[in-house]
Amino acid sequence: ASGTLLDTRGRPLRDLRISVTDRCNFRCSYCMPKEVFDKHYRYLPHGDLLSFEEITRLARLFLAHGVRKIRLTGGEPLLRKDLERLVAQLSALRTVEGRAPDLTLTTNGSLLARKARALKDAGLSRVTVSLDSLQDEVFRRMNDMDFPVGEVLAGIEAARAAGLAHIKVNMVVKRGTNDHEILPMARHFRGTGITLRFIEYMDVGATNGWRMDEVLPSAQVIERLQAELPLVPLAATSPGETARRWGYAGPDGRHDPALGEVGVISSVTQAFCGDCNRARLSMEGRLYLCLFATQGWDLRSLLRGGAGDAQVEAALAGIWGQRSDRYSELRASLPADTGGAARRIEMSYIGG
Ligand code: GTP
Ligand code: 5AD
Ligand code: SF4
Ligand code: SF4
Repeated sequence: ASGTLLDTRGRPLRDLRISVTDRCNFRCSYCMPKEVFDKHYRYLPHGDLLSFEEITRLARLFLAHGVRKIRLTGGEPLLRKDLERLVAQLSALRTVEGRAPDLTLTTNGSLLARKARALKDAGLSRVTVSLDSLQDEVFRRMNDMDFPVGEVLAGIEAARAAGLAHIKVNMVVKRGTNDHEILPMARHFRGTGITLRFIEYMDVGATNGWRMDEVLPSAQVIERLQAELPLVPLAATSPGETARRWGYAGPDGRHDPALGEVGVISSVTQAFCGDCNRARLSMEGRLYLCLFATQGWDLRSLLRGGAGDAQVEAALAGIWGQRSDRYSELRASLPADTGGAARRIEMSYIGG
């Protein structure tokens, strides 16, 4: 089998996000609050994790079904031992069009200074670094591990020096916590070739105590930026993109590519489920069809039960073919608490 799969809403499968570990060395309160992820928390034992060979096999079969982009996530993906070996295996795969997949990674940046070169050499195409503040004190508080911001900035620099293109920086904006850092972050990255993206704080998982009044709607982020740094809207680069793009304008009022662009990811105030083409594979081989899913499809049993490629491919086609998820679009109309939140998978498990 090969070619494009469509779900029940006509959405193709293009983007595979693979979470390689449920562990992280940070404790961002919106993701892995210390009260929950303490020393008693039971992480998965190593034998439960998919091996690199199992991940690569699944990725190959996903690519045969039209996937073009593969993103490694965690937890913190760089905590997975020898990750560059997996990157090398994945970068050798091909899409149905015969091209190398767009192979990227979302990391907290803490280990990037050490690993950027090896990742680039292994075939990683690009990298996205999470960074919520440039102020050391705010940053240390938000990662809740007293981790200094300077090391993450050094990681970004190392990624650039290693030749990783299209570096993006993701900032989760929490009203009252780091929204005063919107403009300083924008000033810092404007004109550097790095694309900064502002993410609305989302109600993922069941442990972060999400409240709507801590969400700063993206429209207000853009308004605050516009007051000082003129922006013009840019067209989407590909269908199903998470971010709305805005380019920095030059003196003539038009987008100046040398100044670069920013993005806003507005899952709460402007859902983008309409053309969501993303599937998520957990470290233990469960396939989730939405970031807010409560259940995943167990692919590991299939693999370890000795299924052949054709059988696994047929399973993938069946799973995607019945997909109807669009949580963010429905969020607004859902009753305040349907009990679903308690069963939702955690961000640290599925990698955002
Ligand atoms: P690019 O290919 O570089 O544009 O990456 P991306 O935006 O697809 O992935 P990234 O890991 O950088 O995600 C940025 C933010 O968007 C994170 O907070 C994710 O949790 C969120 N995000 C990514 N995909 C989805 C999605 O399908 N639904 C929702 N609600 N949020 C998403
Ligand atoms: N809301 C929005 N973004 C989040 N991330 C983690 N938890 C949340 C949340 N509750 C972001 C991380 C990273 C990306 C994978 O997801 O900061 O950039
Ligand atoms: Fe770790 Fe990223 Fe979650 Fe922060 S947001 S705790 S860095 S996985
Ligand atoms: Fe896709 Fe679910 Fe996110 Fe909507 S909420 S964009 S369906 S992952």
